[in-house]
Amino acid sequence: MKRLIITLAAGLLLVGAHAYARIRTRSSTRKMVQLTEPKLKGSVTLEEAISRRRSVRQFGTRPVGFTQVGQLAWAGQGITEPVRGLRAAPSAGETYPIALYFALPEGLFVYKPAGHSLEQVLAQDVRGMLASAAGMQEGAARAACDIILAGAVRKVSAKFRSDARKYMYMEAGHIAQNIQLQAVCLNLGSVTIGGFDSREVKKICKLAQGLDPIYMISLGYPADQQKTEDGRTPAVPAPIGPAAGKKAVLIIASDNFRDDELYETKRMLDAAGVQTTIAASRQGIARGMLGNMAQPEVSLNRLRVDDYDAVVFVGGPGAAEYFDSPVALNIARDAAGKRKILAAISIAPTILANANVLTGIRATAFLSERERLQQAGAIYTGNPVERDRFIITGTGGSPRASLDFGRAIADALSGK
Ligand SMILES: Cc1cc2nc3c(=O)[nH]c(=O)nc-3n(C[C@H](O)[C@H](O)[C@H](O)COP(=O)(O)O)c2cc1C
Repeated sequence: MKRLIITLAAGLLLVGAHAYARIRTRSSTRKMVQLTEPKLKGSVTLEEAISRRRSVRQFGTRPVGFTQVGQLAWAGQGITEPVRGLRAAPSAGETYPIALYFALPEGLFVYKPAGHSLEQVLAQDVRGMLASAAGMQEGAARAACDIILAGAVRKVSAKFRSDARKYMYMEAGHIAQNIQLQAVCLNLGSVTIGGFDSREVKKICKLAQGLDPIYMISLGYPADQQKTEDGRTPAVPAPIGPAAGKKAVLIIASDNFRDDELYETKRMLDAAGVQTTIAASRQGIARGMLGNMAQPEVSLNRLRVDDYDAVVFVGGPGAAEYFDSPVALNIARDAAGKRKILAAISIAPTILANANVLTGIRATAFLSERERLQQAGAIYTGNPVERDRFIITGTGGSPRASLDFGRAIADALSGK
């Protein structure tokens, strides 16, 4: 039987284009979304879904509606055997420690398997904050929906004691896999994210004591395959901003990069329409000195300077790994030789000095680097940001200084 789309008169709130589900007030504060019955038949076989599943990190702007959210929630935690209340994913001892939270433009919602409904826990769009807690990873930053798998280990420990945590993590894996495969069947792309600041996510989602974020899934329509309702692929909107169409690579240390020098610089470049890529000496999660994380998309030894209009070295203590790195020094030399915008902040200008591209150039850096720059023939000014033709340097050390540095790069890329 089709579950009814319930509309309770009081407090009813129609949500934009989501014509399939309505939010109703259960109490005076908490709103419920009654989801439509999940579909049990689809046009994609399991084998096709498995073979097509790929981590997708670039999303378009098309929103994901409550119908799709309902289907994804069901795939993760829906009740598939109503007599005993058994769910779509296996659970050690039927303890079901995982709750699913959905971050959407309309707010944050928790899935209630028993009623196949969502309960709104926050009216605020927290996707931006979640992206930040995940180190501004590309996937989480632009996702139509972020799903947080939050676990209550005590639900398992009553039965399984020392194995409880292990079982809870295993269950999160099962649920995430179901959701990713269901996403494929809905033509959605997704990426599972383990690299986030758990304490921050717990705070953002206002999770109760004993409930901890374990895993995140960012999803949406893939940027390169947005379809309109009638199945056509719309023209990809051109990026806007004075430096639209330009490309910059931000090179960070694999460990101990300075967080705001990456995020604030990137923020300024994104705002100017610059397409940014993060690179590091190794792939895998890179950690910032303040505890944030970033996922480099390119490893340094695969980086081709020709692919970019600007090469930017981010600072932080870890950037010293590039002071004597032949690969990094070659990248700096290659970029300078090709008159690309070449930028470095805080201690990273030393990389440019060691690459011998600062001779006779007005440059700045964190004070500790002054002598090294001068020895390399640079004219050290100590100004917060210095631009000499195509070379931009910054002192860094604060979010403000990083923003100014990013702005100078964006200006140079837009021909100012
Ligand atoms: C436990 C776990 C944590 C992961 N964390 C992240 C992450 O923080 N950021 C990210 O971009 N991808 C993350 N991934 C996705 C992997 O990078 C991805 O699965 C891998 O590159 C293989 O690509 P595929 O999923 O397309 O097969 C994670 C995957 C797993 C299983």
